[in-house]
Amino acid sequence: MIAVVGLGKAGLPLSFVIADSGLKVIGVDVDAKKCDMINRGTNPIPEEPGLGELVEKHGGKNLIATPEYEDAAGCDVFIVIVPLFVDDTYNPDFGILESAFRSVGRILKRGDLVVLETTVPPMTTETLARRWLEEESGLELGEFHLAHSPERIMTGYSISRLREFAKVVGGVDEESGTKVYDIYKKFIADLHMVSSARVAEFIKLMEGCYRDVNIALANELFKISGELGINFYEAREYANHEYCHLHMPSTGVGGHCIPVYPWFLIKYMEEREKFSYSELLRTSRTINDEMIEYWAGKIILECLKVNKPLDDVKICIKGITFRQGVKQLYHSRNLALVKLLMEKGLNIFVYDELFSEEELEKMGLRGISPDDADLIFDSSELWMEIP
Ligand SMILES: NC(=O)c1ccc[n+]([C@@H]2O[C@H](COP(=O)([O-])OP(=O)(O)OC[C@H]3O[C@@H](n4cnc5c(N)ncnc54)[C@H](O)[C@@H]3O)[C@@H](O)[C@H]2O)c1
Repeated sequence: MIAVVGLGKAGLPLSFVIADSGLKVIGVDVDAKKCDMINRGTNPIPEEPGLGELVEKHGGKNLIATPEYEDAAGCDVFIVIVPLFVDDTYNPDFGILESAFRSVGRILKRGDLVVLETTVPPMTTETLARRWLEEESGLELGEFHLAHSPERIMTGYSISRLREFAKVVGGVDEESGTKVYDIYKKFIADLHMVSSARVAEFIKLMEGCYRDVNIALANELFKISGELGINFYEAREYANHEYCHLHMPSTGVGGHCIPVYPWFLIKYMEEREKFSYSELLRTSRTINDEMIEYWAGKIILECLKVNKPLDDVKICIKGITFRQGVKQLYHSRNLALVKLLMEKGLNIFVYDELFSEEELEKMGLRGISPDDADLIFDSSELWMEIP
């Protein structure tokens, strides 16, 4: 029997894909209300396509959710997928991960396998995770098995990603690698074993860094093309080919993943005084975060075309979430842009179909219909209009 620890946006789809393959799953989550919902067959993440049907079919049956780790004591595989945040100085805060691993350690038995799926700084699986488990269980690595398999889902596409996207697994030792591969093969179609947990961890970090750097490049070329009077999108269409994959420009990069993962490597290199090794990653972070300054400048210039004093111009920022269609605000650069323009004393309103007037008010924002604005800035399409 498999336990999935952390039934959030990543853990819940994974646990139901496992349950749908016919395996019995115990889902452990500290949120007792969420566990109740799941056991009643109610989907706590309705915005995730395909998840509702699985929760209805398996909730409280093939998958039983519980806030008590003790209820998972009979499991022999533990998959941990709880959040890991960074603090204000971008250092990882291991608090939740440590608590989850120590709780698993207390019910760990000889021969069990523990798999970390949360994206983590390099070598977390083989150092911290191993230590927490050994300290709590009194067992040594070898008596239990330990591996990493990065979660590569994207909210809104989680079920299809788990079913169709390549997934990798890597053990902290050879036996753990073989064991994790054999178990994951039962519910993941496109599975690949890599040589170590360290490699598996790095794959996810590489991917996040590639996206962040690529977006920073797109943003920089977008600004340059503007100075040259060139339509960036026209040029990009022909620039991209097999060896050139320029991403799209934006107001920056938001969410829990891409803006966070480069910091795991930047901090790791800086701790070792290898400052020059992660210069590109750091610069890309700065370029992406500073895009809101660029857009604030453009918006102000456009406002000057409206026949009103600057602070009377009703500006509507359309879209405040970090990604279009996903109701999440973590590190949203669109929301940061709204706040920056408000700080500059401009007359800022927002429109986002995912939020009610009441929800906007609670965040200290004013809603508006785009038709009633003097200037609209669409944050995902990056266009401005004076209606
Ligand atoms: N959401 C995504 O799109 C995504 C994509 C790829 C990878 N990930 C990875 O998944 C991790 C988790 O992200 P998420 O989006 O699922 O987070 P989330 O906030 O949606 O869910 C986390 C869940 O963990 C539970 N939890 C917290 N502490 C716990 C503990 N000690 N024991 C048991 N449960 C606990 C919470 O109650 C919550 O239900 C991320 O840190 C990231 O590494 C997420």
